[in-house]
Amino acid sequence: MQSLTLTSTLSALAYAAAASTCDHFITTTKVTPSYWRATFSCPPLNIQGLAFFQDYYAPIDQIEADSDVKVVVFDSSAPDFWLNHFDVLKYVPPELAWDSYWGNVTRLANLPVLTVAAIRGITSGGGAEIAAGLDVRFGSKERAVVAQPEVSIGVVPGGGGLDLLPRLIGRARALEIVIGSDDMGAETAAHYGWLNGAIPDAQFESFVDTFARHVAGWDHEGIAAAKKIINEQTGFPTVAEWKGGFTAFATNFNRTVAQNRVAAFKKAGLQTDVEFEKDMSELVLEYTGPGPWDV
Ligand SMILES: *[C@@H]1O[C@H](CO)[C@@H](O)[C@H](O)[C@H]1NC(C)=O
Ligand SMILES: *[C@@H]1O[C@H](CO)[C@@H](O)[C@H](O)[C@H]1NC(C)=O
Repeated sequence: MQSLTLTSTLSALAYAAAASTCDHFITTTKVTPSYWRATFSCPPLNIQGLAFFQDYYAPIDQIEADSDVKVVVFDSSAPDFWLNHFDVLKYVPPELAWDSYWGNVTRLANLPVLTVAAIRGITSGGGAEIAAGLDVRFGSKERAVVAQPEVSIGVVPGGGGLDLLPRLIGRARALEIVIGSDDMGAETAAHYGWLNGAIPDAQFESFVDTFARHVAGWDHEGIAAAKKIINEQTGFPTVAEWKGGFTAFATNFNRTVAQNRVAAFKKAGLQTDVEFEKDMSELVLEYTGPGPWDV
């Protein structure tokens, strides 16, 4: 009981430090009526926690309701992170994080608007799954890093890594990424098709901006028809498929082995220390021991 109380206290403190940096997670800017930017702004860590889930669905309503918008670029104001992993230290109400998640991500994927992830930092876990749910992903060659680190912590990806990612990059590469649980740089990720391209950082902004302005200039019907038919031909996970991945995440998260690893990571700086978050895949062995962990 003593250690449980201590753990909850540490958890509350850790969360307060990380959460104090933002009330609102997403700022939406209309660059032009047809070209919008949605900027993740919860620096320094952009953890995918309560503030993210409170903010992510409203822009989808705005995009759906607007007849002018044709392209939305999702970027980040935090220098080191695009969208980071799910908040494992603080309860996020399941009706917000999960019941609303699949329906809204699927709805966004089926809107007649092109969505673009412009990734100039790390995107990990749940953040990488949000990126995978968007239509097009560009990464800075020098700065973008993508990762599904869940298995290294004793869980599995719950927001699309098991169902959406294999459709994007194929079974073998999804297995390597999910079970290897390691960081992947932009060039390899682009080679695999996880990212559409790895763009030198010095040209990144102008590349993304030029792409978005081109799309914003096309006829809306053409964009809508192309996206609809590509979606029909390639498939997007159904709500039931998404839920299977989440159930596996939740079941595994309850296991002692996962709780112990999260506790070890928390002591080391999980969700509070920028350097820890940047090096998490390297530090996993140091802070959780060499294993075997299936005990
Ligand atoms: C989107 O999220 C909102 C807010 O949580 C929720 O009320 C709505 O039902 C969700 N939409 C879908 C299609 O799941
Ligand atoms: C995980 O544990 C919590 C608390 O004991 C429980 O409410 C929840 O149903 C469990 N979830 C799963 C998927 O086992």
